[in-house]
Amino acid sequence: MPTFITAAIVSLCAILVTGQQISYNGRFPRVSNGAAFPQRFSWAASSIYVPFQDAQNVTIAFSRVQGTGPSQFEIRVDSHLVESATSLTTKPQNVTVTLAGSGTHSLAITKITEAALGEAQVDGVWLDKGSFGPMRSSGLGRRMEIIGASIMNGYGNLGNDQGCQPSYQAEDAVVAVGPLVANHFGAKFGLIAWTGAGILRKGVEVRPENANEQPLEKQGPTIPELYSRADAGDPNSSFDHSQFTPQVVLIEAGGNDFSNGTKPPSNWGAEYKRFLRQVRSNAPEADIVVLGLPVDITRPIRGEASAQMYAQAVQQQVQELKAENFQKLHLLRLPASVMQDSTLGCNGHPTANTHMNMAAIVQQFVANITAWGPTGTETSFLYHN
Ligand SMILES: *[C@@H]1O[C@H](CO)[C@@H](O)[C@H](O)[C@H]1NC(C)=O
Ligand SMILES: *[C@@H]1O[C@H](CO)[C@@H](O)[C@H](O)[C@H]1NC(C)=O
Ligand SMILES: *[C@@H]1O[C@H](CO)[C@@H](O)[C@H](O)[C@H]1NC(C)=O
Ligand SMILES: *[C@@H]1O[C@H](CO)[C@@H](O)[C@H](O)[C@H]1NC(C)=O
Ligand SMILES: *[C@@H]1O[C@H](CO)[C@@H](O)[C@H](O)[C@H]1NC(C)=O
Repeated sequence: MPTFITAAIVSLCAILVTGQQISYNGRFPRVSNGAAFPQRFSWAASSIYVPFQDAQNVTIAFSRVQGTGPSQFEIRVDSHLVESATSLTTKPQNVTVTLAGSGTHSLAITKITEAALGEAQVDGVWLDKGSFGPMRSSGLGRRMEIIGASIMNGYGNLGNDQGCQPSYQAEDAVVAVGPLVANHFGAKFGLIAWTGAGILRKGVEVRPENANEQPLEKQGPTIPELYSRADAGDPNSSFDHSQFTPQVVLIEAGGNDFSNGTKPPSNWGAEYKRFLRQVRSNAPEADIVVLGLPVDITRPIRGEASAQMYAQAVQQQVQELKAENFQKLHLLRLPASVMQDSTLGCNGHPTANTHMNMAAIVQQFVANITAWGPTGTETSFLYHN
């Protein structure tokens, strides 16, 4: 049901007011009293979808969340990228997209960077004419959860092309392995990841854009702490897992507990297993796929000795869980050939190209265990460039 407010802003015909007119992909703290905005975005690759019709342009108002750094967004209309790399730094910003034609359309607003770098909000969406709605079907009912740290967020994956400073311009989670796989299957997903975080180790701290702002949190979360949050950067937020039960969970977690050849504390294995059991308790039927990254990918980030120790430790915990009859748990080892050359993104992280090669194998594996087929562009809920 479209809702109109015509008086407030003369040049605007329709302004979106209720959250019921929006579809969400990823975790979002909902705005109180069902309003659509201001909608805070924290997680990388999280999107809102707004259906509308018969407008010539659509305008989106963005602003940065105080106490955090900058973010980047992408905007799609009918799954086609119309604005890439909209950067939110210090100032609020309006972005207007001019449309080709009348008829029904879908606007997708996607945050492509992680909360550790910054959070932002959409303060409003409006049309010059036409109306919002009708709601599209909510997709195929496929759901994935993707859990990890920098690699899973696509940290530094654009470094080749964009350089590595500022770091928020070198990260695009939409072309990281997990979202690529979810998009292939038209699955909704949550990407639960934070650079530097381990099972025990805290992630990197948030650095506010203005040095005089207090950061939302002094230290980043561990991965298990992050997993419990509705808003990545808000330690007081809590996610209701019954709202989103994945059929497939993709995990690459704990590498940051191994650095420079030092062993993690002796309770690492127990805590790793405890976390996987927690994930299982929230998704009793899910296939849990632990990504076994080749040492060629982890070595440039944390050195040979740690890369080897981490790979062995993960394999051991998975074996132990299986031995205690933990069902539908898979260790998917990726071959070194996913790195087709020795090119690296930032701080030793994989490039977008390596992510794409990883995704091709993970897709096959997920297809094998779920019998999911790929979606055509016409049915996909997510994005195509
Ligand atoms: C809206 O679209 C029309 C037609 O393309 C264009 O002339 C106008 O300048 C646009 N308005 C804004 C605010 O971009
Ligand atoms: C965005 O557009 C709205 C409506 O015209 C206006 O009130 C607001 O000041 C604009 N914000 C910026 C940053 O231009
Ligand atoms: C979390 O709650 C505590 C205690 O109420 C409060 O002091 C703190 O500011 C809150 N943190 C955030 C990020 O809201
Ligand atoms: C590893 O050690 C080097 C040299 O001391 C240091 O610069 C680097 O930050 C360390 N890496 C990690 C992940 O601790
Ligand atoms: C998926 O199954 C096919 C057919 O059994 C097999 O050839 C292929 O290796 C499997 N792919 C993965 C990634 O496990």
